[in-house]
Amino acid sequence: MAQIFDRSSNALARASLVLTGLIVIALGVTLDQLQRSPWVTRQGQRADQPVPFSHKHHVEGLGLQCQYCHTTVEKSSYAGIPPTRTCMNCHAQIWTNANLLEPVRQSWATGQSIVWTKIHDLPDYAYFSHEIHVNKGLGCSSCHGRVDEMPIMYQQSTLQMEWCLNCHRNPAVNLRPTSEIYNMAWKPASELNPVWCAAADVKTGTPTAESVSCTTANPGGAAGAGGSEQASLHLIPAANAQVTDAPGGAMGAPQLNYTKFTNQEALGEFLIEHYHIRTPRELSSCEVCHR
Ligand code: HEC
Ligand code: HEC
Ligand code: HEC
Ligand code: HEC
Ligand code: HEC
Repeated sequence: MAQIFDRSSNALARASLVLTGLIVIALGVTLDQLQRSPWVTRQGQRADQPVPFSHKHHVEGLGLQCQYCHTTVEKSSYAGIPPTRTCMNCHAQIWTNANLLEPVRQSWATGQSIVWTKIHDLPDYAYFSHEIHVNKGLGCSSCHGRVDEMPIMYQQSTLQMEWCLNCHRNPAVNLRPTSEIYNMAWKPASELNPVWCAAADVKTGTPTAESVSCTTANPGGAAGAGGSEQASLHLIPAANAQVTDAPGGAMGAPQLNYTKFTNQEALGEFLIEHYHIRTPRELSSCEVCHR
């Protein structure tokens, strides 16, 4: 049979096969990267809003709390976006002529809600609830970043499944006392940022998180420095208590057994136990988020 191709074309064919293979791999890698790229996840993008609302001015500048506007964050799956009335509490008096606020005044006059562009938006098939996360010791900043420093809101995390699972597989590193969930500057427990916690006996019916009291000021420390005040916060008095770090604490306030945590892992483990957080295995099962 006549040879149609000579030897060199054989090498060429092999080379082009290898090349095709490489291109396919490169394409795969690119698509995968693309799927994770900020362009797809919308991470970091600033949306066009009808009003250039600044969290930096209103939170850091004016000292407003998140719950002042996002009123349902602790008791519902949605944090909620404030109605125009909330803005008018102040803007009926201040900056009443500012052009920037024209859409707010329009909305107030006509009764038509301001249409904000959603920044965070999970697909409908993924279930998410703020209530459980914030009531189990996850702060806003763990998922949304330093909102108090954002002149314009943006999405800090990818919100991809991998991101959710990353925490569900090891929540200890992200947990903080529920009293700190709005603290934008919270730092994990360490030698430099110790945290003291005490747990009271749980009476039946008491929500688990409420039986734990934590503070970042030494509860047994220098009398009068506010420490002893902290020690008696919220809690059901416990008999014959003692403060581990500084014995002989303060003036007859109902005392508890405080443990000092100088390591985030240890604090995380303590909170997992007392907040009754499920195991990583249970938290990573598909039905948790896909119902
Ligand atoms: C004075 C009212 C006000 C306060 C206080 C406030 N917010 Fe907001 N927040 C808004 C408004 C209005 C929007 C919608 C416009 C925008 O996205 O900037 C919003 C949007 C957001 C969004 C994005 C919503 C989306 O579309 O996905 C997050 C996250 C958020 N706020 C978190 C916080 C956190 C955390 C705090 C406390 C540190 C806080 N906010 C305090 C009014 C407020
Ligand atoms: C465990 C991560 C996590 C924590 C903690 C968290 N958020 Fe969110 N937040 C999300 C996700 C995810 C969405 C998008 C939800 C969706 O699209 O259904 C979101 C959406 C929002 C929105 C848009 C409106 C809504 O409810 O969908 C606001 C406002 C908001 N968060 C505020 C807060 C505030 C304030 C806190 C702290 C008290 C907080 N978040 C804590 C993950 C978190
Ligand atoms: C507690 C009072 C208060 C509330 C509530 C409030 N604002 Fe403001 N707002 C202010 C003050 C004070 C300033 C001037 C801030 C400055 O210049 O530092 C301001 C400034 C602004 C500005 C001008 C740009 C800027 O950030 O400096 C816009 C836009 C604005 N607010 C929108 C809103 C919207 C929208 C809401 C409702 C979601 C709202 N504000 C709720 C007090 C408030
Ligand atoms: C920073 C840590 C963290 C991140 C990020 C996080 N979670 Fe969670 N999630 C938790 C913890 C802790 C719990 C509480 C577990 C418990 O009580 O057993 C929880 C519980 C849940 C539950 C159980 C709710 C219920 O009522 O049973 C759902 C659903 C959930 N998360 C969905 C998500 C989704 C979806 C995302 C990503 C968009 C996400 N979570 C991101 C830590 C996190
Ligand atoms: C902690 C919450 C959580 C758990 C647990 C979880 N998922 Fe998801 N899943 C998500 C979220 C959030 C998305 C949406 C991601 C996005 O928008 O990019 C998603 C998306 C998906 C998708 C769509 C394709 C994709 O990757 O974007 C599939 C398929 C999926 N999940 C399957 C599963 C299976 C199978 C399991 C069990 C092994 C599982 N998920 C467990 C939160 C979760």
